[in-house]
Order: sequence, then structure tokens, then C-alpha cells
Amino acid sequence: MARDAVGDVRDRTDIVDLIGQYVDLKKTGRSFKGLCPFHQEKTPSFIVFPDSGNFHCFGCGRGGDAFTFYMDVERVEFREALQELAKRAGVELRSVPTVAPEEDARRRHLIEINEVAARFYAHVLDKSQAGTPGRTVMAERAVSDEMRTRFGLGYAPEGWSHLLDHLRTRGVDPAMAVEAGLLSERDGGGYYDKFRGRLMFPIRDRDGQTVGFGGRIVGEGQPKYLNSPQTPVFDKRSLLYGLDLAKDAIRQRDQAVIVEGYMDAIAAHQFGHANVVAAMGTALTEAQVAAVSRHSRHIVLALDADTAGQMAMLRGIETMRETLDHDEVPVPDARGVIHFERRLKAHISVARLPSGKDPDELIRRDPERWPSVVATARPFIDFMIELLTEGIDPGDAARKSTVLAELAPVLRSLPDRVVQAHHIGTVARRLSLDERVVLGEVRRPSTSGTVASRPGPSMTSTRRTAESHLMALLLRHRTQTAEVAARVPDQDILDARNRELLRVLRDPEIASLDAEAIVAGLDDELGDHAESLLSALGQDPGQAAAHARKEAEQALLTLGRERLSTLMRHLQASIREAQESQEADGMASLSGQIAALYDRHRRFYPPPSPYFRDIRDEPTAR
Ligand code: CTP
Ligand code: MN
Repeated sequence: MARDAVGDVRDRTDIVDLIGQYVDLKKTGRSFKGLCPFHQEKTPSFIVFPDSGNFHCFGCGRGGDAFTFYMDVERVEFREALQELAKRAGVELRSVPTVAPEEDARRRHLIEINEVAARFYAHVLDKSQAGTPGRTVMAERAVSDEMRTRFGLGYAPEGWSHLLDHLRTRGVDPAMAVEAGLLSERDGGGYYDKFRGRLMFPIRDRDGQTVGFGGRIVGEGQPKYLNSPQTPVFDKRSLLYGLDLAKDAIRQRDQAVIVEGYMDAIAAHQFGHANVVAAMGTALTEAQVAAVSRHSRHIVLALDADTAGQMAMLRGIETMRETLDHDEVPVPDARGVIHFERRLKAHISVARLPSGKDPDELIRRDPERWPSVVATARPFIDFMIELLTEGIDPGDAARKSTVLAELAPVLRSLPDRVVQAHHIGTVARRLSLDERVVLGEVRRPSTSGTVASRPGPSMTSTRRTAESHLMALLLRHRTQTAEVAARVPDQDILDARNRELLRVLRDPEIASLDAEAIVAGLDDELGDHAESLLSALGQDPGQAAAHARKEAEQALLTLGRERLSTLMRHLQASIREAQESQEADGMASLSGQIAALYDRHRRFYPPPSPYFRDIRDEPTAR
């Protein structure tokens, strides 16, 4: 079910639409036909197959997927084709901010200022007279010295210029400190400390660099929390508090737990649950999920029992679902080169805390209990359904309608029909509605447009499997399969990435390199693809090498047979049509195409291909 970005772009690209911009296409049966843009011809032998998202020319033999078409017709490289088609398909390419050298220097400077401030606040909390209120809170909340140091906690003293003065002694330009969000400017000129009388939580990026702060009021006052504003180095929505300290534990336990608040994360760490990070009170974002899922794909949200908080935290997840199944997302960099970022594909579940407790209280009161609370986590979808349908009065039609409207997109996005049916049943029961009503709402076309309609798996999936298997063998067993690699007809390799890879494999300059060395040398996007091919091949005991060549031959034959039978089926259908409409010309050109197809097949997949004979012996008209 894992889908890659290239597959996603391909599925969302209407190949008929795309090719239709270059070729005048006419519908014939399930496919489309036109004059080939790649060679001169008077009768159309260029066919587009919308079901499998491919094209083929019976005249010149060219074929491939949407990327290949675009590459060939526009004479561009794979990357450019991918970028352009992704744009047209509305597949979001997360753009990496362009970092010019001077911009980079400014970012480093902002981080330095934050770090100077963090040391200052920590020093105040630790030693200074002015830090007494902070130390009192630390004691009241039973934060250990170890945690105070580990999280770099600090205290911003009451008064208007403590930090300002300190920064001055360090030669920091106050204007830059304003930009860092630490000082404010007075109307009449001059500066003052922005954080006063607050417990300071340095917020660090995953490398442990301080990029911003959360400041909690000590005692009563408003606002309870004051956070650094958005700056070039601080984007609260993409950070998770404590990730720098939690990432190793997350990896080791293969589980990340996300709580809401600073104090919650600190309490968890203090009692030995170091795989806990905090979302800092906002709705969980895709960037945050991506950040943790680098370390583990098992993510548990530990939410306070109050419904409002839960909904706030969950708001974003629904829209994330589309990407949750994805492994790789194309990201163009400053030069427009696309990289694939591995991300998401996370499994999110939700643990509901006992009512009235936040993790901080719960853990401190009964540290042993925390793992069992986390263990109650249930899949996001179950949780969401339960939460939204809780306590609904069966007579309240309006409320039922609202809830169903909220749940429908979530249900719709479930890729597995059986799972979907299961949840539809649950929702129907919980809302006391007929299942057909719920189903109707779910089947209704998505208005948001986030859920792409996907072509059925049909025969493309088996085809891609033969193709991937072949490519994996060619890559894994270079020497044994070099001869096979040389023979693979490019035009029958439909995935544009595989074609690129094939080109690389045939390069005599790298003949001596093994698979790992080749993967390492590939561009990011091809490298990731090649890795996934290899991992699908599985752990490969040395003895498999002995059969590699035979297996590759076999895969190549399967590929050829499938290709031939697809194209034959198409030609047979066209012949039937021509017969019915008694088009003599059409018949003649079609039988010419059949002959050419056989010739081609014989050339590339010569006997002793057993499949060749099978297919040739099939009666042409059925
Ligand atoms: N938060 C914030 N700004 C606010 C309110 C909350 O950034 N105005 C974030 C903080 O990261 C906070 C989290 O949301 O830690 C949870 O908020 P809340 O439950 O109100 O605070 P606690 O962390 O539980 O603080 P405490 O236990 O000290 O009351
Ligand atoms: Mn709390």
C-alpha cells in the first residue's frame, strides 16, 4: 500500500489529457489513438492506454509512461519531467527555502543569539538572586536538577533590561535580538526584554540548537505562555519540543509518544520515558509527524481527556492521511533539483488519558502507570470515530448529519475497502443510521479534491512487479546479469525511473561496482527508488546469485509476454471494431501492425521463449 511520489504523480496525471496537448487523440474502445509525435506517419498507430497510464506506438515502437512521454516530447531529463508533471497534477512539492550564503549567516547569527540568551536564563535560574521565583516553581513542580540541566531550563527575571544588558556585554546587536524575538522596541526608541518573570523553556531543533523559547508565567498572569514569534529559525509548527533529547530513545523503542505540553515532556523524561516529545499545544502538523517518523513510524498521541484539546490536536491529521501512506515526497531544492524525502508513512494511534489528568500529573503521581496508559493507544481512525460519535442523542438529526459530514472524508481516504466497510459499519451503529446512508456519504465524490481517483490495479500491478523484479535482479547481481541487462528493450520498461536506472547499469565505466556502490552514486530520487527495489528483493543469500541470471531471463520473458499480450489484446479489439464497421483500410493497417508487433517481439524476445509460442498460437480473433 506504500505509495511513492512518482507513482502518486503518475496516478494523478491524466495521460490522455497530457498527451492530448500534443497529439490529436480519438477514442477507440477503452484507448485513444492518434498520429505519433515521434515519427512521421499518415495513419495513426500511436495508442494511449488510460487504464494503465501508458502509451505505445505500433509504428516506431516507442512507449512508456507519462514521464517518458514528457521527457521525449519536451526533450527534458527525468527530474524536470517529474517536477513539471507534479506541478500540473497538483501534487504538493514541499519547497525547501532557498538559503543564500548571507541568509545562512543570518540564521546562524539568530541561533547564536538564542543560545546566548538560553545560557543567560539558565544561569539566572541556577544561581542568581533574581532566579528565586523560578527555583521555587522548579521545586513545587518537582523538576529534578538533572532535567533542568538537560532541558536547559531558565528563568527570565522581572525587570526590563536584564537580557538587554547581558546581550550588550556580549556585543549582540539589539536589532538582531528583536528579530530573534527576545527584545522588543520601545515606541520612543530603545529596547526592552520581552520575557519577564517567566520560566524559560528553550526550544531546540533536532540537532539541539536553540531556535526559540516558550516562557511560562510564574504565578498568575497573562498570557500563561509567551512563545518566540515566528523567525527565520523558529517555526513552532515544524518543531517538537524535546526531540533532540528523545530521538535516540524513540529509535530504540521504535515508538514516539507525543504529549501536549513542555512540562509533560519533561516529567516523562524525568521518570525514564525518554521517547516523549511535546507538540507545544498546537494541532499536530505534517512537518512534525515527518520529523518524528524519521526515528520511528509508530507514533502515539497521548492526549488530555478534555475533548477540545483532543480535537485541536487532531485537526490536522485528517488532511495528512493522503500522505501518511507515502514513503517519498519530491522536494525541489534551490536549483530546482528534485530530491526525494523519505517521510511520513507513520502509524498514528491515540491514547486517551484518564479524565482531568495531564501527563505531567499522571506520571509524577504514578510513574509506573505511564506505559500502560500509552499501551491503551488505539488507531487514529477508531479514536476519531469514538470521539465524534460519543454521547450523540439518536434523535438529534442535525448533529448526526454534522458528525457524518466530518467523518466521511476520513472514511473515504481509507485505502482498504474491507477496513473501510468495517468502519462504516461502526459509524452507522453509533449514529443509529442505516449503513447505506453512511456509505452514500462516503462514496460521494470528495469536494476537497485531496483524494485522487486512482486507476484500478488491473494488470498494471503485476506488470510493475515483473519490471521491478527484473530491475532489482539486474542491480543486485551485476556481473551475472550484465548480458541480460544489455538485451532489455528500453521501450518495454514502462517506469521512467527504471529506464534511467537501466541506462546507468549499462554504463561500462561502472561495470565493476556493486549494487550498494551504485545506489550510493545515484541521484537522490533514483537512489531511493533503487533502494526500494533492492529491499523488495529481500535479504539475498549468496546462493541466489547462482540463479540470478536464470531468474532475470525469466523476469524478462514475463515482461515481454505481458507486453505482447497487452498490445495484442488491444489490436484484436481494434480489428473487431474495424470488422464491425467494415473499414477495409483500418483492417489493412491493423494487420500490418500485428505483423510488426510479432516481428518486434521475436527480435527482442527470441525463441526459445516458450511464451512467444503460446501467444502466437492463440487464435487472433475470439
Ligand atoms: N501553549 C502555548 N501557548 C499558550 C498555551 C499553551 O504555547 N498560550 C503550549 C505550551 O507548549 C504548553 C502546551 O501548549 O506546554 C499545553 O498547554 P497547557 O496545558 O495550558 O499548559 P501545561 O504545559 O500543562 O502547563 P502547566 O502544567 O504549567 O499548567
Ligand atoms: Mn500541565
